[in-house]
Amino acid sequence: MLHPKNTEIYFTLNTGAKMPALGLGTANEIEQIPETKQAVKAAIKSGYRLIDTAWAYRCEDRVGEALKELFEEGAIKREDIFITTKVWPTHWDIASDSISRSLENLGVEYVDLVLQHWPLCFNRVEDKDGVDGIARNPTHLDGSANINEEGDYLSTYKQLEKMYLAKDPRFKAIGVSNYPLDYLQRLLKECRVVPAVNQVEIHPQLPQMELRDFCTEHGIRLESYSPFGATGSPLTKNALMQKLAEKYSCTPNDILLAYNIRQGVVTVPRSVNPKNIVANIEFISLTKEDSSVLNKYGLENSQRFRNEKFAESIPGFREN
Ligand SMILES: NC(=O)c1ccc[n+]([C@@H]2O[C@H](COP(=O)([O-])OP(=O)(O)OC[C@H]3O[C@@H](n4cnc5c(N)ncnc54)[C@H](OP(=O)(O)O)[C@@H]3O)[C@@H](O)[C@H]2O)c1
Repeated sequence: MLHPKNTEIYFTLNTGAKMPALGLGTANEIEQIPETKQAVKAAIKSGYRLIDTAWAYRCEDRVGEALKELFEEGAIKREDIFITTKVWPTHWDIASDSISRSLENLGVEYVDLVLQHWPLCFNRVEDKDGVDGIARNPTHLDGSANINEEGDYLSTYKQLEKMYLAKDPRFKAIGVSNYPLDYLQRLLKECRVVPAVNQVEIHPQLPQMELRDFCTEHGIRLESYSPFGATGSPLTKNALMQKLAEKYSCTPNDILLAYNIRQGVVTVPRSVNPKNIVANIEFISLTKEDSSVLNKYGLENSQRFRNEKFAESIPGFREN
């Protein structure tokens, strides 16, 4: 039997929409931002149908340039791709503005999913150009957050919910990112719309089993960021990943993607290298037993690879 490609697999969201299991991450290093355009074009041309971006990645305009050319070339239609963007905590009280800015950057009329990027509220600071400190200056990306102590993190989701219930045409679904279990519990108590997605760090060294069970129970689709352990792909050097790669005659990257996809978790590896972008499409039929081995390994060898300092303001964030 022919195996599908990762790009041919779709998961259903609680809105009924289909979300591709594999997408292209675009949180590129600053010096790589100009490469975003060719990466998006390479991804779409090789079959990717999900682009994961965010206002904070400072590359939405490059994603937009790629999409414009792809639409003009007839390579893809808007309705055939799934675009996710996110509201950064500096915009915690102006989610609607943030969405408009992202749409303008992306050059599209709607996105398929808007996520609250972090359950945090940051103060806005003045931009050196005298702009409002919002458009040009994605502050705190270095982790030195300027936390707004009065802000309630749930306020951002409540704004998204209000717009969603009013059938705002600028997005199709709403969700969250970096929400730990107790934050989701509060959200479900205080809000009517269950998030379609919670995007968090998930990989074999951070299996997030409890969060996973909770999300499954409540119909929230989990999405894994940093599937390779972020820059430098440290997880690909892990002895267990290498052993499994040998067993399946594939690369450790393939094992890491299969780990998520085989368990119903959307995943968005980042790459600006067309060869790697294409390589990440390869589907590996990881067995249930090997998925369990990886989950058990993660519980015993838990490690976060993304360590933004501001995450310390989220109680318990580091423990899971
Ligand atoms: N919601 C959030 O707070 C949050 C946080 C972090 C990330 N994210 C999202 O998740 C995406 C992915 O996470 P990430 O950016 O942290 O890192 P990642 O996907 O775990 O790893 C990226 C690294 O893997 C390399 N790579 C990719 N494919 C490869 C292959 N086949 N062989 C060898 N190396 C390969 C890339 O290098 P090359 O470019 O050279 O291929 C890059 O250095 C982000 O881009 C972003 O969209 C979201």
